[in-house]
Amino acid sequence: MPISVEPLAKSIAAEVSGADLGAALSEGDFNAVHDAFLEHSVLVFRGRSQTPALTPDRHIALTRRFGEAEIHMLDQFHHADHPEILILSNGKDSGGKPLGLEDAGRYWHTDVSYTHRPSMASFLYAHDVPPEGGDTVFASTRAAYDALSADWKARLQGLRAVHGLNRITAPKFTDEQFAALDYVEHPLVRTHPETRRKAIYTGAFALSVAGLPENESRGILEFLADHCAKPEFQYRHAWRAHDLVMWDNRCVVHHATGFDRKHLRHMHRTTVAGGVPV
Ligand code: OGA
Ligand code: MN
Repeated sequence: MPISVEPLAKSIAAEVSGADLGAALSEGDFNAVHDAFLEHSVLVFRGRSQTPALTPDRHIALTRRFGEAEIHMLDQFHHADHPEILILSNGKDSGGKPLGLEDAGRYWHTDVSYTHRPSMASFLYAHDVPPEGGDTVFASTRAAYDALSADWKARLQGLRAVHGLNRITAPKFTDEQFAALDYVEHPLVRTHPETRRKAIYTGAFALSVAGLPENESRGILEFLADHCAKPEFQYRHAWRAHDLVMWDNRCVVHHATGFDRKHLRHMHRTTVAGGVPV
């Protein structure tokens, strides 16, 4: 079956059908998916309830088609047999121990921007989803950049933000994991290494603008946060079991949303290593 790609929103996200993720993608199919990824920034592969769940091996193999599969520093939430998979879950085992990281971030962020080489792409696969809620919201920071006034584009040029974690954004990091991290600087506007398109690069891990007085720094970060959160740049994914969604952290911010915790939400997540943002 040939691959088809249907846009899901005005500036971000497309649904890919005709790709069998239960088997290795052919070279031609991989190229079609890769092109769609660069064009739409978020790709949705809808689950088919009659097909078996994506195995960790296939999930990791798909991830590796795009680059090096990373191992998340929250090793307490790794899949027992596959450290490349981070488990996101509000479930508990029979002893009451959490099955995974309960909340991956209800605030806008781009994955692990608090590191020197943030993940290029993330692949999130749904095993169990609540009957309602628990959506993930994505926004195109590339479309948001394009929509800035010429004055704002000029003002942001050359500015860098300091990224880091705090106890609000990282409640589940142990003291050791927290201590292993430093503050890092990234440009506020980055150029995508493959498309050459510019994108705003901020999110909740961006704590300040380097070298600016506190009030000016806060003003810029708040303006950018509000601007990137405009509905016209967004796609909201309402999960169904067996959906896989992949996104480009170089030009997308995203956040989790709430749901009734009496229901199970259980996901497998992988990431591909990225370069230093420039
Ligand atoms: C992530 C993430 C959001 C969600 O996996 O990086 O932010 O809705 N997930 O679980
Ligand atoms: Mn995330």
